[in-house]
Amino acid sequence: MPNKIVLKKKISSFYKKISIPGDKSISIRWVLISSLANGISKANNLLMSEDVTASIQAVKKLGAQVIFKNNSCIIRGVGPKGYRYKKNLVINAQNSGTLGRLISGILIDTPTPIKIIGDKSLSKRDFKRVAKPLSKFGASFKLRNNSNLPLTIKGSKNLKSIKFFENKGSAQCKSSVIFGAIKSEGKTIIKAKKSRNHTELLFKYLKLPIEVKENKNFDTIEICKVNKIKPINYKIPSDISSAAFFIALTVLSKKSKLILKNVNVNPTRTGIIVILREMGIKISFINKKIYKGELIADILVMSPKIIKSINCPSKFNSSAIDEFLVIFLIAAKANGVSIFKNLDELNKKESPRLMWASKILKMIGAKVITTKNSIKIFGNPQLETNKKIIIQNYLKDHRVFMTSVIAALSFGGEWHIHDKDSIKSSFPNFLEILNKLNER
Ligand code: S3P
Repeated sequence: MPNKIVLKKKISSFYKKISIPGDKSISIRWVLISSLANGISKANNLLMSEDVTASIQAVKKLGAQVIFKNNSCIIRGVGPKGYRYKKNLVINAQNSGTLGRLISGILIDTPTPIKIIGDKSLSKRDFKRVAKPLSKFGASFKLRNNSNLPLTIKGSKNLKSIKFFENKGSAQCKSSVIFGAIKSEGKTIIKAKKSRNHTELLFKYLKLPIEVKENKNFDTIEICKVNKIKPINYKIPSDISSAAFFIALTVLSKKSKLILKNVNVNPTRTGIIVILREMGIKISFINKKIYKGELIADILVMSPKIIKSINCPSKFNSSAIDEFLVIFLIAAKANGVSIFKNLDELNKKESPRLMWASKILKMIGAKVITTKNSIKIFGNPQLETNKKIIIQNYLKDHRVFMTSVIAALSFGGEWHIHDKDSIKSSFPNFLEILNKLNER
């Protein structure tokens, strides 16, 4: 099977209702917390992607039992102190920053050294951002080049609470320290720039000793040691970060309308919705409900007549961080110049995404000016291409692949997009759902 996709035709208008797979952030967190619970937890609609199966492999190595039955994933946890720390243990986080960083926090009590490895993309990413605060608890970390995977954790029996200032807006750093705190004596206090709060909501639902005080830009999180965790059954809602590709396709298509069922629209994740509404796009939430602290809704989006440009306030950056690639595509079709700033974190993802966005937009023929942390996009509502465009060597970043597919279907041209299997890390059935939009 060729691992490349060739697209030569724009999509015609569609009017459809679709369901997107489960949320990746919540799926990984559910696997980790269930493995630490005292008893049996069950999840429906768990995302079956490589990032999540890597998480399952990891907790199995540590002693949790995992089985699949009637479309559910069932985990028998070992309790917060029950991991089986064998000698020479290696955890492969594959492509997943979330798994690699969160599990680093959980493993700070290991009596024998544990090695964490990852694929080529993950091995380029910064792990000092978690190793530094986690070593303050009393664990020791050895990293390649002082910053990268493979890393080795040697835990401690005498872990002490810490104070940590998280100033990047990284939920992975914040959550890693929250997991470290549940293994440490005393009260850990985290002052964290706003970012997705799924870990906090799960902990609150489980009545673990966590307190969150919300301020305008920062949250203060207090968390104490945990001796017991109740099992948790979870119906995982759909992932807005995966839904984003279809929202973008609708916005970029003519006379189309799409309903995305049962999506997690937690306000710490809906930066894309806020930004697109500012750009004049009509998006509404229907059938809103709260589930285990998370806001869930069906999303209705319609293609607009005209897209307004935006000077995007940086306060939206964290809640839209995984969606900027498609937001930039939309800005390329806006009526005017759009500016996005303070996006240092975007070049630190599975690939340098700001750089890739700029490359793709230029290949389509858009005018862009990019610095190391900002992008100015000169929108053109008539933007189209008839060029041959080849996308390759992008470190198999799933979101670069899917963004390129959306661009191909929206702007025309002949696209050769390599490394189709990159989607397996977050959205294995992306192309099948896309085909549904083409069915009459
Ligand atoms: C995630 C947090 C974000 C996001 C990633 C998933 C999470 O990363 O980009 O895809 O599940 O906590 P950072 O926390 O590094 O910004």
